[in-house]
Amino acid sequence: MKYKKIGDILILDKNYSNENYERLSKKHNVKTIMKISHIQGTKREPVYEILYGNETETINKENGCLFKLDLAKVMWSKGNNNERLRIAKLVEDGETVIDMFAGIGYFSIPIGVHANAKEVISIEINPNSYHFLCENIKLNKLDNITPILGDCKDETPNFKADRIIMGYVKTTHHYLRVAINSLNEGGILHYHETVPEKLVNTRPISRIVAEANGRDVELIKINKIKKYSPGVWHVVVDAKIN
Ligand SMILES: C[S@@+](CC[C@H](N)C(=O)[O-])C[C@H]1O[C@@H](n2cnc3c(N)ncnc32)[C@H](O)[C@@H]1O
Repeated sequence: MKYKKIGDILILDKNYSNENYERLSKKHNVKTIMKISHIQGTKREPVYEILYGNETETINKENGCLFKLDLAKVMWSKGNNNERLRIAKLVEDGETVIDMFAGIGYFSIPIGVHANAKEVISIEINPNSYHFLCENIKLNKLDNITPILGDCKDETPNFKADRIIMGYVKTTHHYLRVAINSLNEGGILHYHETVPEKLVNTRPISRIVAEANGRDVELIKINKIKKYSPGVWHVVVDAKIN
């Protein structure tokens, strides 16, 4: 694909060039055209170039949710939209959910909009993402989301939950012990990992078992979200911890 539209901003593919950005902006009805070369570091910050316009803040609508974000400051992962809705639909009435790597509310906001959770505790380390997480809670008029600015390794142990989302793919397994310790009996873990094709059915689940501290791990599902790089999948494992 040559481009994707996020709110009223067009993000061009790295290899795509166009002679007339003004015409392209009119054709797609956008205020800004950008290229994002990659997303860097733990805080998942974009390295970008602005090709047309100057405003990088926008509101993206997805699955009936509003996401305000600044594309020069925080990432938007377009390929994960089905997963964001899938999780919201799994949440049962009255659950307490911890979203350990909340970002701008990619998972927390759809849960707030589409489910009837008691509370969603949304932890985010990047102050820019945290700012938009708070904005998005207001924008979507939600009153059951508790945003926390901090490292989920330190914050998660303060809570107990029926479901924990680990929506991060860099060294996520380092956070497994902390997550599992905060899961109630029979709680559900959604553990993300980038994994070589031939290890999809073995490595993520064995990492969960290794960090479960003797608790019984029941594999529910391994869901391939998208190709991450050649031969490598971004997967999410749903597991019940008894
Ligand atoms: C951008 S998200 C992943 C995207 C989203 N889950 C999705 O699948 O679309 C990952 C977030 O985790 C945050 N993060 C990384 N390490 C963290 C930590 N130790 N504690 C809390 N948040 C962290 C990053 O700042 C980033 O906003």
